Amino acid sequence: MDVPTFAEPWRVKSIEPIRLISREERSRALTAAGHNMFRIASEDVFVDLLTDSGTAAMSAAQWSGVMEGDESYAGARNWFHLERAVREVTGFDHVIPTHQGRGAETVYTRAFVEPGDLVPGNLHFDTTRAHIRNRGARPVDLVVREGLDPEDLSPFKGNVDVETADRFIHDHRDHVRLFILTVTSNTNGGQPVSLANAHAVSELCRRHGIRLLIDAARFAENCFLIREREPGQEGRPLADIARELFSLADAAAMSAKKDALVNIGGFLALRHRADLDACRPWAVLYEGFTTYGGMSGRDLEAVARGLREGLDDTYLAARIRQVRFLHGLLLDDGIPVVRPPGGHSVVIDAARFLEHLPRTAFPAESLASALYEEGGIRTAALGGLAFSEADPATGEVVTAPWEYTRLAIPRRVYTDNHMAYVADVLRRLYDKRGSIGGLGLVEAPPELPHFTATFEPLDG
Ligand code: F0G
Repeated sequence: MDVPTFAEPWRVKSIEPIRLISREERSRALTAAGHNMFRIASEDVFVDLLTDSGTAAMSAAQWSGVMEGDESYAGARNWFHLERAVREVTGFDHVIPTHQGRGAETVYTRAFVEPGDLVPGNLHFDTTRAHIRNRGARPVDLVVREGLDPEDLSPFKGNVDVETADRFIHDHRDHVRLFILTVTSNTNGGQPVSLANAHAVSELCRRHGIRLLIDAARFAENCFLIREREPGQEGRPLADIARELFSLADAAAMSAKKDALVNIGGFLALRHRADLDACRPWAVLYEGFTTYGGMSGRDLEAVARGLREGLDDTYLAARIRQVRFLHGLLLDDGIPVVRPPGGHSVVIDAARFLEHLPRTAFPAESLASALYEEGGIRTAALGGLAFSEADPATGEVVTAPWEYTRLAIPRRVYTDNHMAYVADVLRRLYDKRGSIGGLGLVEAPPELPHFTATFEPLDG
């Protein structure tokens, strides 16, 4: 028997039972949920890979910090801890706490985006797109071409196509005032951005007089992949790489629910005093006073501690290894996954997995439904529905080119046995993929439709 040479750098202190309900119960739950994974009760899920956001297991150090929460309205001690941690990790002077990532998005789009603007980025994620659109502006994706090719093995598929970006900004100079670099790029499976590319984007923004904001939800995983894949970066402390990355931008927004290992929280960090003045009133209005921003004192403490833990070498090595473990199992079975593996998720190319289904039959949602029914596994459908948008000029609905079902791995939560179980269910499903039917849309709201849409199985 092979003895593994690797083991997780932690031991389990507390467990939460999970249960696989019967196939009949799963089918009933699926119908009641309108085949939308967001509408399924978590107690009806066995392995929950819907998201890596807010689903981490906190450490004993974080939990003990929770007991030291100072629940004063203003100036709680935990706020100062958080401010210090953010300054240390990012190098930005000004910090605005927010209840989660989209709280930061509310604030910075209010302050930095005007109606009619075009907001370029590598590949905006869903809530970022919606916030930009909510300001009457338009998100524009300028990721490198290989970033949208699931088979391409380039190491930095989150990079910006700098030449195209230069031309785009030049052509639309009056309507561009903000560039958003999302690290890692969530939409195509947690693909990293290289330090060299971030330097080039920074130079471009400076030359055109545009503000550069880093969406830092998964910055630590990005830094880990930089160290591993970028020439000249090997052996460098992750905190150093992070400081260099942030030094290239004017601001950073963070959903702490990812790489800061907490269940709720976020922040906006700013270099310039004038930007702080522009953002602060919106923060008070939407998020709460500027020393809590929608978080309780105990939340602030958990973020302060988690932000530093999230950059720990041994934790990140184990984390990324587990994502790769699942990716490798699926690849071995010939399942079409986006390659190479990214930081937080394994993404299945649902259009290829279910190649007998037309895109109008929602392959990403159909695969997510089938996975739930077969094994109680919950995933996220990030396909045409989640990333379709009406062209503001023509009103025509433009559908994203990808049809992905995302298996996002919560941090420090599941074991490799859970991953092996997921791979096993997927293998069974792949063997009978021809029998998986498509879905038809019953109803969906116009903005962020995938969160609440309902579907029904198509006949046959
Ligand atoms: N930016 C990125 C890159 C994200 O992935 C998310 C959330 C947000 C901003 C918004 O942060 O959820 O704290 O308000 N992504 C989650 C996901 C929900 O499942 O990938 P939030």
